[in-house]
Amino acid sequence: MTSNTSISHKKLGQWVTEAAAMCQPDEIHWCDGSQEEYDGLCNHMVDSGMATRLNPGKKPGCFLFRSHPSDVARVEDRTYIASRTKDDAGPTNNWMDPAELKKKMTALYTGCMKGRTMYVIPFSMGPIGSSISKIGVEITDSPYVVVNMRIMTRIGTRVLDALGSTGEFVPCLHSVGAPLAKGQKDSTWPCAPDIANKYISHFPEERTIWSYGSGYGGNALLGKKCFALRIASVQARDEGWLAEHMLILGITNPQGKKKYFAAAFPSACGKTNLAMMIPTIPGWKVETVGDDIAWMKFGPDGRLYAINPESGFFGVVPGTSMDSNANAMLSIQKNTLYTNVVLTQDNDVWWEGIGFDPPQGKNIDWTGQEWDMSARRVGAHPNARFTAPATQCPVVDPAWENPLGVPISAILVGGRRPTTIPLVHQAFSWNHGVFLGSIVGSETTTANIGAVGVVRRDPFAMLPFCGYNMGDYLAHWISIGTKTSAEKLPKIFYVNWFRKSDDGKWLWPGYGENSRVLKWIFERTEGSANGVESPIGYLPSQDGIDTNGLQVTASDMKELFKVDVAEWKKEVVGIKDHYKKLGSKLPAALSDELSALEKRLG
Ligand code: OXD
Ligand code: MN
Repeated sequence: MTSNTSISHKKLGQWVTEAAAMCQPDEIHWCDGSQEEYDGLCNHMVDSGMATRLNPGKKPGCFLFRSHPSDVARVEDRTYIASRTKDDAGPTNNWMDPAELKKKMTALYTGCMKGRTMYVIPFSMGPIGSSISKIGVEITDSPYVVVNMRIMTRIGTRVLDALGSTGEFVPCLHSVGAPLAKGQKDSTWPCAPDIANKYISHFPEERTIWSYGSGYGGNALLGKKCFALRIASVQARDEGWLAEHMLILGITNPQGKKKYFAAAFPSACGKTNLAMMIPTIPGWKVETVGDDIAWMKFGPDGRLYAINPESGFFGVVPGTSMDSNANAMLSIQKNTLYTNVVLTQDNDVWWEGIGFDPPQGKNIDWTGQEWDMSARRVGAHPNARFTAPATQCPVVDPAWENPLGVPISAILVGGRRPTTIPLVHQAFSWNHGVFLGSIVGSETTTANIGAVGVVRRDPFAMLPFCGYNMGDYLAHWISIGTKTSAEKLPKIFYVNWFRKSDDGKWLWPGYGENSRVLKWIFERTEGSANGVESPIGYLPSQDGIDTNGLQVTASDMKELFKVDVAEWKKEVVGIKDHYKKLGSKLPAALSDELSALEKRLG
């Protein structure tokens, strides 16, 4: 059995010993990643009341968790990039001096695991042994985190073996921040309920993560947002690659030709739906490599290759149905962890938007209270989540674990924009594409705590996830374009599924119909579809989008592609404001693109 002293990796053994001395757990458990360990932890959480085993006849191997009401989402206000200088964190991140932050958090961590077990989870982001993958080790006092990490990443002894005695790893320290006094009964979702005591901290130069006070996935599963995006984006800057908030999908045309696209959309804009979509156009196929994060590196042929560093889906449950995302529904029928959905009387789960009414009888809502449809509140929290293994997705791509990654032909960016932005347009060049990525924006959602429904600019959907100065990040994107020849770079497209008519109705049906847009993008990357030059980029020609069988009127199609110069001039004002906020590090190439757009608008 592994212990701090038997571990051959001295630095790792020492770090765990030091963390244990600070956090003072009753026990230390090195996770081996086995099924027995997972089952044991699930049984233990059922016994302690933290988890409910769902009906094995309906949802075999599935469990339900209910979080504390204070702990339902990522906490961006409490998320810190503690680089040595404030300028390195930049204008879009919370910054604190690393020494000061460590002092504050050390006081919180001291004795924080009393009465609890400290779990040590070696994990690999990406297939073990891939040259694109990276290793982390998470210390946590949450068994919920362990079982989620086993689905979302590759964990255990095989990772320790890959690490050897000198391998590099990112230390990730996590505590729910709820020590137990002797004999004190544990709560079903321990956390530090006071938001001021939650800290999600990143020390980019040290490649270290300290998270305290929250058990919610985005704050506690440290391989995901904290490592695979915030720390990895810094590693990517230093090493010449890209760590991005992007899904990856494979798309095959009726002739059997396959391409891969990556797509950046802010949280809750349907990344999982697009990654798993069922095309409505005959003969086309979409397969899933990943639904949230892409790591992209140049291959020996000068093209960008992407891996999904995760091995599961941590998706938003409400709104998921056989209509909206059949492949997600089929992925979550077994071996799935549900958090904050309704428990029905027959120990099954239900949520708003599942496509049918909840059964009669005693249902329990996400807060643990009896609930039925007559209640004037939702049954599932709008940010309720499923955690499911990627292998359960019926359309998981055959190459999803290819250690070399998949070659990316197109990069899509987008957000929720009811006006101004057409259904799709293509950038004129790499730099113009980076410009488009830098100006995307979306309405805020329930995936982040704070005001809901306000449009915020979210460059490449990385606003909450970029581990350094956003201006430097955009400069890094520009520099990626200089590393290979233009024809080897992915083409960049700005899509908007969310445009509305003047009377407020959605113009585009979305979901499987988005395949029509993917088809045009596919054909553009081959040079087989026309692009019509407009002031904002290339638009499809009049018959460019396949509308066979589509229930959208010709006038709505026209509206979807309308480039209204007056609206765009307003957009330019917004972009200038946004760029001003990004400060002096904004690359000149992007101000040039903005000036060029202004000129084209006349
Ligand atoms: C997520 C998010 O959970 O972006 O993926 O918030
Ligand atoms: Mn995300």
